Amino acid sequence: MPPSQAAALLAWYRRHARRLPWRDHPDPYAVWISEVMLQQTRVETVIPYFKAWMRRFPGVRELAGASVQQVLRAWEGLGYYQRAVNLHRAARQILSNGEVRWPQTASAWRALPGVGDYTAAAVAALAFGKDEIALDGNLRRVLARWIDLPVDVRSPEGERRLLAKARSLLPAGKGAAFNQALMDLGAMICTPRAPMCERCPIRSGCLARRRGTQGERPVRAGRGRVPHRIVAAAVLRRGGRVLIARRPEGGLLGGLWEFPGGKRETGESLEACLRRELREELGIRVEVGESLGAFEHAYSHFSVTVHAFACELLGGVVPRALEHTRLAWIAPGRLSVYPMGKIDRAIARCLVAAPGRESVSADPRKRRPSAGARAGGEGRGVKRSRR
Ligand code: ADE
Repeated sequence: MPPSQAAALLAWYRRHARRLPWRDHPDPYAVWISEVMLQQTRVETVIPYFKAWMRRFPGVRELAGASVQQVLRAWEGLGYYQRAVNLHRAARQILSNGEVRWPQTASAWRALPGVGDYTAAAVAALAFGKDEIALDGNLRRVLARWIDLPVDVRSPEGERRLLAKARSLLPAGKGAAFNQALMDLGAMICTPRAPMCERCPIRSGCLARRRGTQGERPVRAGRGRVPHRIVAAAVLRRGGRVLIARRPEGGLLGGLWEFPGGKRETGESLEACLRRELREELGIRVEVGESLGAFEHAYSHFSVTVHAFACELLGGVVPRALEHTRLAWIAPGRLSVYPMGKIDRAIARCLVAAPGRESVSADPRKRRPSAGARAGGEGRGVKRSRR
């Protein structure tokens, strides 16, 4: 982009910048939290989480002083839970010996847990005004169209070419505005489908527009079909409480609580799967009782259906955490305190509401009954009815 184009972009941004809550107070804490929340997550989804987070943990001291459980609970629903665990760890590093020490450069940020190239560049640019390029999805798309990049934007070569171009265009000292101008241009004008080229402040320099290839950019390597997992989960009851188990930190849904169970193996019935999983995970034998519903959710690289069953302990053996970090017997009304993934939260809500059978998506916006199952909250009581 010749300097006049950079100037046109920045002038457009001054007039059209989105008003976003993290822009109201662009201090390192707000920028860092928002940038981590915004990864793989839409701005509209993030806004209420960000506002609630800033009320709950207004600064790095409050975040560092919280328990990881409290942090995960505040994050619940945003997904990619390792991000929350890492924010908490990083907060404790930033607050060393009672003093807040913010890293000042992208490379110093990268040394913190969970901070990769994108977050480091974004915080350095947006909070410290450094001339870094934070290559997110919007920037990839805008830049790929701008230079009509014919290779995958996530390939090493694609990234190198996008970064080289952006760095050569970035006016010195304008890192914060330049990155945010490109983000907003990508969100408002240079959209994935039907970009509004006529309204674009840099249209005269856009190679894809000149060649008519906007619809083919950015190039992305084909994403295959995601695998589907079938899982069985147990609701074990004891004296009005239900058993939940805490997943080890580090893996999928790490540190969150769940109803114990696991993946069905080929040729296995759901009941046999559950009996095997509970033997392996908890060292117990159970009788598998009524179905409490089928719960669906799509993660980024797989989708899952969890079939929940009421189960009864056999043989008087006390469950042990053989694969979890903790077990707890909790009254259904108190499950809301424990951080959970979307599916387990949906199961927990059913226990509180005590509805009958249903087949639902864990995401309320995507709920749909599956064939032969009732979608509503009516039906036989969880405790009384048996299949
Ligand atoms: N997406 C990622 N970071 C963003 C930011 N700071 N503002 C708007 N959208 C974003």
